Amino acid sequence: MDYKLSKDNQTWVNEIWAKLQTKMSAEVDRIGVKIPYIPEGGQYKEDKGETDIYWWTNGFWPGMLWQMYHATGEEKYKTAAEGVELRLDAAFDGYEGLHHDVGFMWLHSAVANYRLTGNTRSKTRGLHAANLLAGRYNPRGKFIRAWNDNCTGWIIIDCMMNIPLLYWASEVSEDPRFSYIAKDHADTTFNKALRPDGSCHHIVVLDPKNGDFVEAPEGQGYASDSSWSRGQSWAIYGFALSYHYSGDSRYLDAAKQVAHYFLANVSSSDYVPKVDFRAPEEPVCWDTTAGMCAACGLLEIAKHVGVNERALYVNGALNILKATDQRFCNWDPEIDSIVDNGTGSYHGRGGDYAVPIIYGDYFLIEAVLRLKNSDFLIW
Ligand code: GLY
Repeated sequence: MDYKLSKDNQTWVNEIWAKLQTKMSAEVDRIGVKIPYIPEGGQYKEDKGETDIYWWTNGFWPGMLWQMYHATGEEKYKTAAEGVELRLDAAFDGYEGLHHDVGFMWLHSAVANYRLTGNTRSKTRGLHAANLLAGRYNPRGKFIRAWNDNCTGWIIIDCMMNIPLLYWASEVSEDPRFSYIAKDHADTTFNKALRPDGSCHHIVVLDPKNGDFVEAPEGQGYASDSSWSRGQSWAIYGFALSYHYSGDSRYLDAAKQVAHYFLANVSSSDYVPKVDFRAPEEPVCWDTTAGMCAACGLLEIAKHVGVNERALYVNGALNILKATDQRFCNWDPEIDSIVDNGTGSYHGRGGDYAVPIIYGDYFLIEAVLRLKNSDFLIW
């Protein structure tokens, strides 16, 4: 949509888009069909296609490539994205390591391909992933189960970003079953994970026999009753997307409620989110990826509200994007990755603490293309 930006904001968008094109052109030449996650010493050395084909972020690089292809028409982005999609077939074949994050993995690869090119093999991959996600549905508790092993009754806020795969599957298969599951899951998340003050839990454990609330344990945030900023951003964007697909205004109100909470918190740290809004003052640990995702969610909300309400969300997104650009973006085309100071989890499990993480770059690109009115809805 046309966000009707001021001249200054338009200039900033044009400048950052020019930098993105230079950066992404150099990156795709270096990276090609590798599957990047976190750079080491400024280069993507690890290839997740070799070390962990099931890793939940493996769709973000093709997602960046499809956004770039859509915006520029340059074939090299398409070629690399198609190559990654092919490599992800090994995850379908292996199956054992897959879980709720099949949405993140295949919306950005196969489904994006199908949406932009009509490739029928890609459509099949997308529907296959949707069936895997639908297969995780618990019809007694009315939720999509997170993770594997002993997590029978677990739901997580992240999954709000996976269920667009089900809405898409209903559209292309002309079968409402998938969207019924998506809506049931969104309703359960709405009822069990949102808190009255506008924040949300990361994880909620439900009784798998009936969906009753059991507990909300600590997840990737500081503590069980804290508020992990990326989880808040998943809620903003995820509920906005459920509204986009279903038209149920409760979801838009939920997205707005968490957005107001997020904006109030991020305004007290110069518009870069800390990894948890309710962690102790020290140590200060940022999670720029939460800001990038929230910015996209805010811009999605802006599409669905009246013209007089829109500025709150558009300006909120711009404040976050500009602050992150100024403080944490690396525009050197010789260096892999753009947005520094992403953090996977408060306690740094897995070594993803204060580093560039691939999905921070994905959401930056999506946000800039949204502001340019050159994006396509990948979710
Ligand atoms: N699994 C999604 C996240 O770490 O945010």
